[in-house]
Amino acid sequence: MERAISGKELTTQRRTPTAIPKILGISGSLREASFNTQLMKAAIASYGTADVEIADLNLPLYDGDLEAKGIPEMVTKLGAQIAAADMLIVASPEYNKGISGVLKNALDWASRVPGTVFAAKPTLLIGAAAGRTGGETAYFMTRNCLSQLGAVVLATPAVLVAGVHNEFNEDGTLKSEQYQKSIG
Ligand SMILES: Cc1cc2nc3c(=O)[nH]c(=O)nc-3n(C[C@H](O)[C@H](O)[C@H](O)COP(=O)(O)O)c2cc1C
Repeated sequence: MERAISGKELTTQRRTPTAIPKILGISGSLREASFNTQLMKAAIASYGTADVEIADLNLPLYDGDLEAKGIPEMVTKLGAQIAAADMLIVASPEYNKGISGVLKNALDWASRVPGTVFAAKPTLLIGAAAGRTGGETAYFMTRNCLSQLGAVVLATPAVLVAGVHNEFNEDGTLKSEQYQKSIG
């Protein structure tokens, strides 16, 4: 029986065996102590040696009039980071059963950068939320947006950390062995 190709395998297939993977981490929460940012960092750490950049989503709100004056420098930088990465690791919070405004705004801006920066980009999508589903509704909403942009959202590991306030140690590592295994 065929099994799903994991994120690690797909990334490895895209590069030469000696290359260090270039990973761009994207967290949909701006909060300093964000659990999604912690989860994103735990996922990045599971790849071992990697060339890592973390996207800054503290962008202006998308506004067509602003765009008409020229795409903001921060957005151009985000687009270049996405284009250059071997893979994206996107951690999506759930706000009112939807994608966070921060993440949606960033995806909207990035979609306006010339070129198709998300095209065929292996993307690991994960999430952490206070509720019992771990933000599953937001996960699928984010997945739809990323797919529309041409990203290849990896089937596994689709880690969604539920009841997140109890799931992290102070050093940002995951408490549960089950989540640790899934992310690793
Ligand atoms: C405006 C808002 C809406 C929220 N809606 C949901 C929700 O629909 N489902 C859920 O599980 N948690 C919801 N939460 C709780 C978040 O999951 C929780 O605050 C989480 O820690 C946010 O992610 P972060 O730690 O990365 O900032 C909401 C929080 C806020 C601030």
